[in-house]
Amino acid sequence: MTNHLDNMAVILAKRPEGLPNPDDFKLENRPLGDRLSGQVRCQTLYLSLDPYMRSVIAGNHMGHGVDPGDVIAGEVVARIVESDDADWPVGKVVRCQGGWQQFTDQPPEALSRVPAALSRPSLALSILGMPGLTAWAGMVQQAKVREGDMVVIPAAVGGVGAMAAQLCKRAGATTIAITSGSEKRRIATETLGYDHCIDRIEDDLAEALTRTAPNGVSVYFDLVGDPTLTTVAQQLSIGGRVVLCGLIKDYNGDHKTAGPHPGLWITKRATVTGLVVYDYESQRQVFEEEFVPLAEAGELVANEEIHDGLAAAPDAFCDLMRGRNHGKVVVRVGE
Ligand SMILES: NC(=O)c1ccc[n+]([C@@H]2O[C@H](COP(=O)([O-])OP(=O)(O)OC[C@H]3O[C@@H](n4cnc5c(N)ncnc54)[C@H](OP(=O)(O)O)[C@@H]3O)[C@@H](O)[C@H]2O)c1
Repeated sequence: MTNHLDNMAVILAKRPEGLPNPDDFKLENRPLGDRLSGQVRCQTLYLSLDPYMRSVIAGNHMGHGVDPGDVIAGEVVARIVESDDADWPVGKVVRCQGGWQQFTDQPPEALSRVPAALSRPSLALSILGMPGLTAWAGMVQQAKVREGDMVVIPAAVGGVGAMAAQLCKRAGATTIAITSGSEKRRIATETLGYDHCIDRIEDDLAEALTRTAPNGVSVYFDLVGDPTLTTVAQQLSIGGRVVLCGLIKDYNGDHKTAGPHPGLWITKRATVTGLVVYDYESQRQVFEEEFVPLAEAGELVANEEIHDGLAAAPDAFCDLMRGRNHGKVVVRVGE
C-alpha cells in the first residue's frame, strides 16, 4: 500500500507574456507516494526567488526550463525528514533544487550541505548563498576591487548588490548605488553603507554620475543591462573594469540590451568579463570559510525580504520582476 503525503506546490499555469502575473501560477496538492529506496525526503524550510527564474518559466534558461503543468524550479533550504543514508540523517539541514513545494524526494548526490555554524538557514540562500557567491565572484575574483576604486552597483539592495557593496567597502573602495524609491535609497546608504546613491527613475543618471564620480568609474558591476550599462560605461575611467552579470530589464521579454559600441571599450582600455556563478561553485567552501564567521559575528547585513507561506511566492516573484522588492526575496515555507 502506498502512503500519500500531502504536498502543496506552485505549478506553472501558463507561460507569462512580458511581465509575469499571479494568474500564470496555481497552487495545488501534488502528493508524494512512498519514498524510493536510496532517496532522501526533504521538507522545504525556505525557498529562494531569483530573477533568473523568469527565463526558466519562459523555457530558455541556459538549456533548461519548466513547462506548463510542472512545479516551478528553484533552490531551497530543507530539512531531511526521512532517510536511510548515514551521511544525510533525519534532521540535517541541506540545500537542494527542491522547487516551489513543501516536500521533495532527492537522490543524495543532489544535496549540498549548509554550514553547521549558520544560525539562520535563509542566509544560505542570500548573502552566504548563490547571490553572495555571485557578488564575491564579481567583485573579488573578477574585478579585484581594491582601495581607491570607485564602484557603481545597480540593483543595489537586492541579493547580489547588497553583498557586493559590503565586499567593496571591506576592500576600501567608494561605492555608488543605483536603485529606485526613497525606501531603497535609505536602505542603500543607512543599512548597506553605500557612500552615494542615485535613483534610476528620479535622477538623470549621466549627470548624477559626473557629479558623484568626477574622475570616472573604475569598476561597474552590471546587474541590469541597458540603458544603465551604456550610460555607466561612457563614464568609465581609463583601465576601468566591467563585470557583466545580469540583464534584468531583458528577462521580461520586452527589451533587448545592445550595450555600448566596442570602440568605447577600446578608448577606455577596459577589461570586460562575463560572470556565470555556476563556474564558482567549486570555490563555495573557500567563500563560506571566510564569510560565515563574519555573518555570524554580525559584520555583514543580509537585507532579506522574507514572505510567509508558499502561497505568497507568485505575488512575491511578480513584484521582484517589477523591481518592487526591497532585498533578497526568500519565502518561508516551513519551520
Ligand atoms: N550571472 C550570474 O551567474 C548571476 C547570478 C545571480 C544573479 N544574477 C543577476 O544579477 C541581477 C541581480 O540579481 P538579484 O537576485 O540580486 O536581484 P534583485 O536585485 O533582488 O532584484 C532585481 C532588481 O533589479 C532592479 N532593476 C533595475 N532595472 C529594473 C527594471 N527595469 N525592472 C525591474 N527591476 C529592475 C530592481 O532594483 P532597483 O529598484 O533597486 O533598481 C530590482 O529590485 C539579476 O539580473 C540576476 O539575474 C546573475
